[in-house]
Amino acid sequence: MSELAARPLDPVVGDAVPHESAVLHSTGTAMYTDDLAVADGGVLTAWPVQSAQAHAIVTVDIAPALEVPGVVRVLTADDVPGVNDAGVKHDEPLFPTEAMFHGHAIVWVLAETAEAARLGAASVRVEYEPLPSIITVPEAIEAGSFQGIPRTVRRGDPESVLATAPHVFDGVVEIGGQEHFYLETHASLARIDSEGQVFVDCSTQHPSETQEIVAHVLGLPSNRVTVQALRMGGGFGGKEMQPHGFAAIAALGAMLTGRPVRLRLNRTQDLTMTGKRHPFHVVWKAGFDDDGRILALAATLTSDGGWSLDLSEPVMGRALCHVDNAYWIPNFVAQGRVAKTNKTSQTAFRGFGGPQGMFVIEDVFGRVAPALGIDAATLRERNLYEPGQTTPYGQPVRHAERLRTIWHDLARSSDFDARRARIADFNAEHDDVKRALAITPVKFGISFTLTAYNQAGALVHVYKDGSVLVNHGGTEMGQGLHTKMLQVAATALGVPLESVRLAPTRTDKVPNTSATAASSGADLNGGAVKDACEQIRARLAAVAGRLIGVDERDVRFSDGRVAGLLASGPWYPFAEVVEAAYHQRVQLWAAGFYRTEGLHWDTEKMQGEPFKYFAYGAAATEVEVDGFTGAHRTLRVDILHDVGDSLSPIIDLGQVEGAFVQGAGWLTLEELRWDTTDGPGRGRLLTQSASTYKLPSFSEMPEQFNVRLLEHAAEDGAVYGSKAVGEPPLMLAFSVREAIREAAAAFGPPGHCVELRSPATPEAVFMAIREARRAGAAVAVAPGETSGSDAATARAASHPLVASDT
Ligand code: MTE
Ligand code: MOS
Repeated sequence: MSELAARPLDPVVGDAVPHESAVLHSTGTAMYTDDLAVADGGVLTAWPVQSAQAHAIVTVDIAPALEVPGVVRVLTADDVPGVNDAGVKHDEPLFPTEAMFHGHAIVWVLAETAEAARLGAASVRVEYEPLPSIITVPEAIEAGSFQGIPRTVRRGDPESVLATAPHVFDGVVEIGGQEHFYLETHASLARIDSEGQVFVDCSTQHPSETQEIVAHVLGLPSNRVTVQALRMGGGFGGKEMQPHGFAAIAALGAMLTGRPVRLRLNRTQDLTMTGKRHPFHVVWKAGFDDDGRILALAATLTSDGGWSLDLSEPVMGRALCHVDNAYWIPNFVAQGRVAKTNKTSQTAFRGFGGPQGMFVIEDVFGRVAPALGIDAATLRERNLYEPGQTTPYGQPVRHAERLRTIWHDLARSSDFDARRARIADFNAEHDDVKRALAITPVKFGISFTLTAYNQAGALVHVYKDGSVLVNHGGTEMGQGLHTKMLQVAATALGVPLESVRLAPTRTDKVPNTSATAASSGADLNGGAVKDACEQIRARLAAVAGRLIGVDERDVRFSDGRVAGLLASGPWYPFAEVVEAAYHQRVQLWAAGFYRTEGLHWDTEKMQGEPFKYFAYGAAATEVEVDGFTGAHRTLRVDILHDVGDSLSPIIDLGQVEGAFVQGAGWLTLEELRWDTTDGPGRGRLLTQSASTYKLPSFSEMPEQFNVRLLEHAAEDGAVYGSKAVGEPPLMLAFSVREAIREAAAAFGPPGHCVELRSPATPEAVFMAIREARRAGAAVAVAPGETSGSDAATARAASHPLVASDT
């Protein structure tokens, strides 16, 4: 095992400790960005004037707003000293002359109170010169409205194989988007400090990039702007790129007025202004042999990027690299392109395109299994990767044997076969409710596909009294990164957890950091924290060796004691060694650095080894579906997930459960609706609050929820043998969707293939049940089978598989 992965004898990592802010969270005393504003006197509030049209040239008269009592100033494009753009791709004018979507912020009002700012914004006069708008992906395809560079992952000769394969199916599928619905909406608080420098507290997953954009907008070098991320009330990817413009508005306001400016979106503003998970439109064709082995897959994925690029290209890149999920597909082509529409700019969301990519293959297996006459669980198991195989983009699937290990272990612990038999009996006895149990795997690549992002820094101080302060470049959004970093520091220095404190993330402590994203926060920052601590420990070992009278290589640090190899020998408290080191003028702080080795990726060819390793898992889910309403209950979920050797088991279990429920929400409940009519509301987001956008709550929790972490799973080359956990378990929720599909099928005749709309809301499930019942009345024809002339084939024909412009 590598140096990095090895654990000392008595580590703090691996201990089941609660989240470092658990008490603060549960007593309501944790501070968030906007709480700082309340504590601050004399803060101005920023409020947006939002476009009431989906696409229009806008001219603005701000004069009436200045008459509103309490309004201090209205920020417009004329106020920008630097670049009027908030996008990393320079395609997001901060103060636009062309409104690109319904809800687009055009100018911002600053006022003494939120109410005055709101009234001021309402009195700004906006004139619209309407332009044609594109709202849906099919409209964008029709109009040829795309952005960014299309990409293709290819292996083998899928076209020829599909021409000759024994069984060929095709389909078209629309995958819904998802609202992040973090509890804390976007928030920034900017002020000019005593030295005239810009200081922004921001709810951001990427403080360094927020800093850069603020600096660009203000026309300042980065060393004059500091961004602090205290903690977030959730990010889920929604605060990876989207906070920058809001921070820039607050900073601009502070610079121009000399007063602190707070900007916190209310829920409807957040919903109507900020990006979401990308909806996808997919056309696919798949070929199988008689045993159900997939021989070839061809798919064209079109994502709905919204009005600007944001992270749409890397999201698509990850989607294309996850169409295979956990399955060996010898001949493969997946093309991806990003539609440009007049909607919010869609962005990162837990899984970052991976879920949409995997959706394709899980949908294929779920749909075709009955037509092949093989049950879906067997079909999936048969196609799992074997050791030695590679992904379509050329990466060896290291530890592929874990897929089957997990699969069979889970089948055993969930009592899969026996329960399936019982479910068959249950279904035979019930006409109006049906149950089903489905099992699906996950393989998810860990690392940023942009190789440069795979680096991190840390700054660790040991004070004379032996207490430790850790700074690192990652941000805390509830996922427990800070807890893990405390554990890593305590382990590396051999001190108790209580003697380590974590300082809020700040760009003036650790510069040029990457987003806390791609689930790699603990891998990257953990590597950096460990590096810093080990430098300090090595220096302390030399001091301690002389004190104890042993070779420095034989000094051991554990639980605040420093001793020689022989446990019976003398030992010194950590603080005493530190004190001695100080008097010997030994440096007691260190900057740590980490970069992931061994990555290479050719973005143009979409080939290489973009991932350090894969996270694996599987879930078995039983649902009951009501034939009258299409509603389902999740009766039982069993999960076995691979987090390597867990750094922090309570945190990791929480991540697995949370991700699963969030994934189930995306697949079965949460539905974004935009006005697609030609009326005056065209392009308006109709689901603007929790009353119309249904989120999972207690009633949607599985009635039985058994989550286990794979044991003895040390990952070589990752920090203390651990693996990333944040995103991969979201995709375990395909087991819910597939169980619903099988339950719907149970209303029809054997061999009936179910097409299930996404999200599988009660309405969508009801339609699927109705189809199944109809098929029971008629002759069972397998929908989607190319040889047939059914609806699916007709629709696929109207969406050519190989897009002409990619
Ligand atoms: N967990 C909580 N509680 N809140 C969040 O916002 N974000 C998820 C995941 N888990 C999130 C979360 C996303 S999208 C990612 S990429 C990872 O956490 C980021 O943190 P990590 O890299 O430290 O795992
Ligand atoms: Mo997570 S979508 O990578 O922030």
